[in-house]
Formats: sequence, structure tokens, C-alpha cells
Amino acid sequence: MADPSDLRVDGPRLRRDLDTLAQIGRRRGGGISRTGFSTLDDQARQWYVDRCRQARLTVRTDGLGNMFARPEGVDPAKPAVWSGSHIDTVPDGGPLDGALGTVAALECVRRLAETGTELARPVEAVVFSDEEGNYGHLLGSYGVAHGYAEAELAAMTGRDGDRLVDVLAHWRWASGLPTQTRLVPGTMRSFVELHIEQGPHLEAAGTDIGVVTSIVGLGGAELDFVGRADHAGTTSMTMRSDALRAAAEFLTKLPGLAASVGPTAVITCGILTVEPGGANVVPRLARLALDFRDPDRDRLDDLGRVIRAAAEAAGTEHGVKVDWRPARPVEPVPLDPSLRAVIRASAEDLGCTWVDMPSGAGHDSQNIALLAPTAMIFVPSRDGRSHSPQEYTDFDAVERGANVLLRTLVQLTLL
Ligand code: HGY
Ligand code: MN
Ligand code: MN
Repeated sequence: MADPSDLRVDGPRLRRDLDTLAQIGRRRGGGISRTGFSTLDDQARQWYVDRCRQARLTVRTDGLGNMFARPEGVDPAKPAVWSGSHIDTVPDGGPLDGALGTVAALECVRRLAETGTELARPVEAVVFSDEEGNYGHLLGSYGVAHGYAEAELAAMTGRDGDRLVDVLAHWRWASGLPTQTRLVPGTMRSFVELHIEQGPHLEAAGTDIGVVTSIVGLGGAELDFVGRADHAGTTSMTMRSDALRAAAEFLTKLPGLAASVGPTAVITCGILTVEPGGANVVPRLARLALDFRDPDRDRLDDLGRVIRAAAEAAGTEHGVKVDWRPARPVEPVPLDPSLRAVIRASAEDLGCTWVDMPSGAGHDSQNIALLAPTAMIFVPSRDGRSHSPQEYTDFDAVERGANVLLRTLVQLTLL
């Protein structure tokens, strides 16, 4: 039998699979919308399961719809090396965020299976549910690493106000209780996720591979400014409690707030809803979804504090109430040094250049890192674009990344 370290992914098949998946949820402008637990997510999962069946991989699911694929006949009691990512996208996102790591992991597992490669332990592919957090940021991987209490799940709603528990009750890719998804530590030997960088550094440096050192911490909050609806013609400018004016003033402060905490802090408001929403009605409610990040845990807490204080100051100035509902933070994490060394060696064996780098994006890996030794491999993103229809990575770079992943997974089965 051939030496497993000489194995390479089937490039044309990997490309075909990425292209096919990119058709599911594609919009007229070229972007892709596959929200977690939507009809299009359902279609993408059907495609994934069909591809697994063709490769004689069995797929099991948990109560949150996380999917796990491994070759038929492999002893499920044996701790496996895992790889995978997510199949959902942000609204109007790109073809590779999540899809790359999902399809590359599938390709690695089926390549190992079809070549009859004998391994000391199994390699398993995984798809995590709702990574982009329509219901909860990094939803599925959090369930695998920590598990959810019933009350937490009951409180989760999506952008459209639908309840996660209602969606899960009809979700054909979920089985078992959503409160019982936590994996017993030790079940997973190690985890590696391949992902696009989603930033400009690898391309600018002309480097093939990013070996991720750490993942940023994520904070979030839903913030309501609650004023009073009034007639737009008869209420003088000084008599109003205009929720949107308070929100607008608050939003102009965000760059200064981030800078006051540190150069790595970022704050985003990506959703703003105004009610009752008539052009001739003074806004009663402005509801903002906030995302804030920093690699340092203390600075993440500082960010939450300064943002909330600024919201309250804007509310006081405009005579509107403020309701601040923070989300559970996602911890910043360092990634495993021994796994990173294996990735670096694999990249060098394949003639790839590499650089150590932190991740400013959130990933399922940061939950899984709390359960098992975890690492990530980045490939360049053109112009650093992502969460956008402009997201693009040259296929040669994709294939290089997939081969570094395959080699890394093989090496990890020996550890
Ligand atoms: O938001 C993030 O960083 C990730 O794309 N879910
Ligand atoms: Mn994303
Ligand atoms: Mn992603």
C-alpha cells in the first residue's frame, strides 16, 4: 500500500463539490444566502448526505442537527481525529466561508476511505449547525463543547423572530435531545478546521498557509432605544423622544469607543430595526444588533462596558429608555501548539510557505478547543474580502490548503 503521506486530495472532485454547493442558495447578484435551519440549509445538507452515501460514509446527527460522517464499519468507540466546518452562510455571503472546511474535510475522509489507507485511528468529518448564529453564535459547536440547558434553548430566536425549539421540532437533520449534544471529553482526539482567512494578510505577504495561533473573543448584545411615537408634522423638534435619533448619535460614537479600548477592538451594528416604521411617525423603537470583538478577554469586557455606557448617555440626552441585553460571550482561545507544529511541518513537506497568525473571525474551532486539542489552517482571501459576494480564493490555493489538511490529519492519527 502507498505511503499515506503521499496521498493527495482529488482536486477536480473537490472543485466540483465546492461549485455544486455554491449553487445552493445563490442569489441573482452572485451572493449566497443559506441561513442555518432554512430550506436552503436543508437542501445543502441533503446534498452533503448524498455525497457521503456515495462515498460509503455513514452520517449521524445530534439533537442540534450537527452532522458527523465516518467510513462504514469504523468502530465508533475509537476516539477519532475530526475535521469540518459549517454549511450555513451569512445573508448574501460568499461560496467558501464554512463550505471550504466542510467539503475539504469530506474529501479527506473519503480519500482515505477509497484508497483503503490504514490508519491508527479514524478520521471523521463534521458539519456544525448555524455557525453564523441566526439563533446563537457558533450554535452547534457550542452544543458539542458545552451543551445547552433547556431554558437557554427556549429563549433563542432567529432574525425573523422564530423560536429555535420550534424549528428543531421539525428539522429532519436533528435526532435526539438538543440538551444532550455535549460530547464526552476524550471522544474526539483532535480537531482541525480549514478555512479562508477572510482578511488581507496572506495575500499581501504572498504566503500559502496561515497557521492560526488564536481566535478572537466575541461579544454581542441586542440594544433597544425606546422612545415615544408621535406625529411627524405636529410634534416640534424639541418635544420628541425619538428612538432613532438616540440610536444614530450612539452609532457615530462606535469608532471612538473601539479606539478607546485598543487597536484590536472592533464594533459593528449590522442590524437596525425601526418601529413602527412609518415615514410620518416619530420612531418609538430602534433595535440594534451589536457585535464586538477583541483577542483579549479583559478588553472584551471593557468593550461591553463602554458601549453600554455610551448607549445610556445617548438615551439620556434624547429622553429615551435603553434596554441592553448582552449575549453570552464567546471566549478568545489559543490554539494547540503541538497541532500547529504538525500543520507547519505538513505545509513544509508539501512545499508551501506558511506564517503564524491570529484569527479576527470567529470559528467553531474556538468552542471545540475547549474540548480537545484544536488547530486551524487558513488559505488566502482575495483582497481580504468575506461575508460578501466578492469572497474568492483561487482554486490552486484551495487545493493546497486541502492537501495540507489531509497530510495533517494523517499525521494526527499517529499521535
Ligand atoms: O462572525 C464570525 O466571525 C464568523 O463568521 N461566524
Ligand atoms: Mn462567517
Ligand atoms: Mn466560517
